[in-house]
Amino acid sequence: MTSDRTHGKGSEVHGIFQKIAGYYDRMNFVMTLGRHQKWCREVAARVAPPEGGQLLDLATGTGVIALEAARRYPTVKVTGADFSEEMLDRAREKPGAGAVSWQHADATELPFEDESFDGITEGYLLRNVADLDRVLREQHRVLKPGSRLVILETCPPSGLVEPLVKWGMRVIVPLLGQVVARDRKSYTYLESSTRAFESPQSVARALHGLGFRDIGWRKKFFGTNVILWATKAS
Ligand SMILES: C[S@@+](CC[C@H](N)C(=O)[O-])C[C@H]1O[C@@H](n2cnc3c(N)ncnc32)[C@H](O)[C@@H]1O
Repeated sequence: MTSDRTHGKGSEVHGIFQKIAGYYDRMNFVMTLGRHQKWCREVAARVAPPEGGQLLDLATGTGVIALEAARRYPTVKVTGADFSEEMLDRAREKPGAGAVSWQHADATELPFEDESFDGITEGYLLRNVADLDRVLREQHRVLKPGSRLVILETCPPSGLVEPLVKWGMRVIVPLLGQVVARDRKSYTYLESSTRAFESPQSVARALHGLGFRDIGWRKKFFGTNVILWATKAS
């Protein structure tokens, strides 16, 4: 069987995250002026799994959301899943990592039973996948009815700040990539993937079509990032 990880966009994305794992947290801190951690805290707070429940943090990367969730919900079993072993290795080294179960998984084909989680969180997964519907359908499948999905994503710029944000993404982000990480190419990918990404309205439409309800979102940081939430209909 083939998967998006081994072909096309999935393979390119996998290669980028294997390569940038060592400086991912540092670059994120610089690019968001330290706000990423705060957004991850909000994502963990909004998912609100029940006591003793099971939470999946998909595309966990270096585990920032998973670790926030494990700290916040000590009785919940938190799984941090990603298809990049290099990113997972960074997560495993962090303080508190023992409270999370780290697992290799491809978001296009999740290795979990139907309705096995009481909540799902994810940060910056959707813009990296070729088939948005397929990835959201997989999450709907493994989520229990009545449970929440909370998504942190970058957002295509709009409104008055659009020209300034576009300039920043095109010029400043690759420059930071070069200076902080000595890797301009990977961060040029970030700029192009964000510009090509769907608006929160169109992600919300896709979620509604799959059977999610109570959908909402809040934009962050001049509209460049967004936190979306949705509940699987009971
Ligand atoms: C930008 S990082 C975000 C990490 C973390 N969620 C955060 O907020 O810092 C995106 C992560 O998505 C993972 N990823 C991308 N496509 C994936 C897929 N198809 N299956 C699993 N993980 C994927 C990458 O390996 C990477 O670790």
